[in-house]
Amino acid sequence: MTGTVITVTSGKGGVGKTTTSAAFGAALALRGKRVCLVDFDVGLRNLDLVLGIEKRVVFDFLHVVSGKAKLSQALIRDKRIDTLYVLATSQTHEKDALTYEGVASVIGQLQKEFDYVICDSPAGIEHGAMMALYHADHAIVVCNPEISSIRDADRILGFVSSKSKRAEEGRDPVREHLLITRYDDERVRCGEMLPVADVCDILSAELLGIIPESRAVLNASNTGLPASFDAGTDVGRAYRDAASRFFGEVPQPITVPMAAQVAVLESRPQRGFLRRLFRRS
Ligand SMILES: Nc1ncnc2c1ncn2[C@@H]1O[C@H](COP(=O)(O)OP(=O)(O)O)[C@@H](O)[C@H]1O
Ligand SMILES: [Mg+2]
Repeated sequence: MTGTVITVTSGKGGVGKTTTSAAFGAALALRGKRVCLVDFDVGLRNLDLVLGIEKRVVFDFLHVVSGKAKLSQALIRDKRIDTLYVLATSQTHEKDALTYEGVASVIGQLQKEFDYVICDSPAGIEHGAMMALYHADHAIVVCNPEISSIRDADRILGFVSSKSKRAEEGRDPVREHLLITRYDDERVRCGEMLPVADVCDILSAELLGIIPESRAVLNASNTGLPASFDAGTDVGRAYRDAASRFFGEVPQPITVPMAAQVAVLESRPQRGFLRRLFRRS
């Protein structure tokens, strides 16, 4: 068995990558998949905080990459979802401690043990982000419905298609998914945020989901739970909905903004108009 590598990336920081890695990964694990979350954001190290396991980290990804610990010593199993594991990162190591060979070896080992390896990337195109992208089979590009975030996401999509191992080896391209996060219907109505149809018009990746702006994210991270754990919250439903879309099931659009926005998107006769304008600007 070879596990699938999913990289969660974005152009800009603070858009919701770590929240998404934890929530989307947990949503896959809740469906019985064996999932390992890997924190590539060396220096920030917050995947373990979001999941409330920071006190359990003794060895991390960097120790395994540099051969100072075995993978089995560094993997932390989630106490609530027993098919979910985390490989945390370090706040103290140098960012370039992630070597190509070391990362390739760890990802290879993880692919033998897990159905899905989810790489939580740092923002942008720095070394750690490139490392996280390199092994991707799928890329989830996280983007807020704002022009600056979309512009940066567009740039990252270019890197996904040219800098991955798949591109290097001339294999099928990395499958690109777009996840719109922190979506706020009210702010779209008053023109502060772009409607989903416009975002999708500009970025050509397939739409995986729309995650609403919600206090439930803060509550979940304060209690160390992935935001998809509680299916009773709007974000919980939205992340589980994204997982269903990932598996090719076309779920009932559960969240209200999702339903309304997808209807607009599907009723558009001509796509790409905004993209042409955007590219020229
Ligand atoms: N859907 C959401 N609603 C409200 N707050 C969110 C949402 N998604 C993320 N956040 C908050 O935004 C901040 C940045 O999220 P994070 O996942 O750490 O982003 P990144 O990993 O891209 O830097 C965090 O404080 C997080 O709690
Ligand atoms: Mg992060």
